[in-house]
Amino acid sequence: MAETNDHSVANGALLFDPPSNLQNEAHVKSMQQYQKMYKQSIEDPETFWREISAQFYWKSPPTGKFFEYNFDVGKGPISIKWMTGAKTNICYNMLDRHIANGLGDKVAFYWEGNDPNDFGKITYSELLARVSKFSNVLKNLGVSRGDRVAIYMPMILDLSVAMLACARIGAIHSIVFAGYSSESLAERILDATCSAIITADGVWRGTKLLNLKKIVDDALKICDEKGHRVEKCVVVRHLSPSDEIVKTNGDFEEEPEACRPSRKLKINWQPGRDIWWHEMMTSASSECEPEWMDAEDPLFMLYTSGSTGKPKGVLHTIGGYMLYTATTFKYVFDYQPDDVYWCTADVGWITGHSYVTYGPLGNGATGLIFEGTPFYPNAGRFWEIVDKYRVTKFYTAPTAIRALMKFGDDFVKKYKRDSLKILGTVGEPINPEAWLWYYRVVGNSKCAIVDTFWQTETGGHVLTPLPGATPTKPGSATFPFFGVIPALLTEEGKVIEGPGEGYLVFKQPWPSLMRTVYGNQERFETTYFKKFPGYYCTGDGAKRDEDGYIWITGRIDDMVNVSGHLLSTAEVESALITHKSVAEAASVSHPHSIKGECIYCFVTLKQGAEYTNDLVTELKNIVRAKIGPFAQPDFLQNAPALPKTRSGKIMRRILRKIAVGDRNLGDTSTLADESVIDVLFQNRPNNA
Ligand code: WTA
Repeated sequence: MAETNDHSVANGALLFDPPSNLQNEAHVKSMQQYQKMYKQSIEDPETFWREISAQFYWKSPPTGKFFEYNFDVGKGPISIKWMTGAKTNICYNMLDRHIANGLGDKVAFYWEGNDPNDFGKITYSELLARVSKFSNVLKNLGVSRGDRVAIYMPMILDLSVAMLACARIGAIHSIVFAGYSSESLAERILDATCSAIITADGVWRGTKLLNLKKIVDDALKICDEKGHRVEKCVVVRHLSPSDEIVKTNGDFEEEPEACRPSRKLKINWQPGRDIWWHEMMTSASSECEPEWMDAEDPLFMLYTSGSTGKPKGVLHTIGGYMLYTATTFKYVFDYQPDDVYWCTADVGWITGHSYVTYGPLGNGATGLIFEGTPFYPNAGRFWEIVDKYRVTKFYTAPTAIRALMKFGDDFVKKYKRDSLKILGTVGEPINPEAWLWYYRVVGNSKCAIVDTFWQTETGGHVLTPLPGATPTKPGSATFPFFGVIPALLTEEGKVIEGPGEGYLVFKQPWPSLMRTVYGNQERFETTYFKKFPGYYCTGDGAKRDEDGYIWITGRIDDMVNVSGHLLSTAEVESALITHKSVAEAASVSHPHSIKGECIYCFVTLKQGAEYTNDLVTELKNIVRAKIGPFAQPDFLQNAPALPKTRSGKIMRRILRKIAVGDRNLGDTSTLADESVIDVLFQNRPNNA
């Protein structure tokens, strides 16, 4: 098909040149300019980032080296430090600095609720006042510098207020996506020993009312039982007055159906511990001097799945994270002052941290926070919002694009979308079909597509096109961002030059690479640095084509990427084996047309237990309860025995083949008992 600005290249892949209107105004207008800046950024990172750091406010400059690191486990502890000794406050840089530059009346965030009649906005000055008040609230509750604060909130403006208030007083936020179960929330609170939690009464998602406070109550109960008391629980009154709140002072079983017609939400209330946000805010002062922090002080931790099943608290520090998120935001979304930028990610994930909150605010941008889902009230919701606010830059996940594709083009074409200039994707590999639909249908073949590869650990984009410079290929995250040096390695750690496929690693740190796993430096070193000394190992595979473009091929560890959310197979397995009938479980990734990947579980039952539909439902529910609804397996099957090596190691490679019904098993000579294979093929569920 002929495109306005694409042409076929020799190997048959499509190549899309940057749209010329965008190129004219872009910060980086050509590949030559990109290459020149890239070269400087890797040859002299100090000068490159020092110049960028001058845009920010520093109370005092670094006292030691601007940048130092050790990536080699053989040479002592792994460490990454940028601007050590420099004093700053990230909240001051996000708000006060812009207000001092005359942006006080600029909208910081538009807010669009789940219900299309529910919306609002907040300017930079208003945001500062609200953040300062909440900073004082936190201080009054006894939260101080270095304390960990858990945040379990819906996508409302007060979520950003809560984060920024923590940052203002030097407390470390630990945001847990409000789709995790109480057990997962408790596990994260305990690991970080949070002294306070901020939540909301409840939230509507589509037509469903979620009782967030109940989930928090259950989590805090688990914490109490494990000997850790969370002293304060601040609750935002988010539901409308027609959603009646009934306070109880004891336990109750949730009655989700009962909430429906009456819209009644029962919540537990522990006087002394539980506090309404609005009651504290009325009396709080709207002035709060920021706490001056070291560039290397922690800003937040965010838990991400680990292959052992126990989540890792990825720790980011203030200075480097601030520099890098603001810089990637500026170049990757080619930020212009009149932009209306919208990232649909939940703030509970890293994308929401870096590209709903810190990246845009670091540039004084106008962003949009959306509470709802792409499908409510109908599948045109995204594009309706794009038109309503005249969104210029839009950032979402491939899974959302694929799901919306299924609803057909009419939901998109009903809206003009003529304000859009850049469309971004993140979270998982995007298949070329979805990429092309995004480009042609959503973007009317006029927008640049930026497929951004990065991780919770990397803090910001590491492989990405620049919209005014990089000719793109559908499905490729293209080239490294400034300061990032990727390499592909063989299993033996040999560097692959030119075209080839291998482990994706990075050779030196950029400012926002994670600093450690909270409370577990050893795990940090083992997970990311041990396999290939001298490199940060992403855990992803990638290939490089003849033109040097990098294509992510997916995880090469036991991680499953479900709708852009990483889950470890071990995490799902340990949930399953808590069921009284389960002796053993193994889960693998299975392709899924919308989610990208989904989870497929093999369960071996204890003697006497029967594999029934009820059991399947119970097992799915266990995973929902232990991890969260998004982790529910799509497929389960009875596995009287699992394929194992003689040393007893489960052969997941074979399970992955069985899951997709592929009898081409390759070498099975290491299997202890080949007969299990046929039984497993026979037991595959009909819908798999
Ligand atoms: C995957 C999300 C291909 C990858 C920001 C990575 C991607 C994991 C892309 C991190 C992309 C993210 N193309 N794969 N553009 N972006 N991934 O920590 O496997 O939630 O390691 O961070 O998502 O997921 P995380």
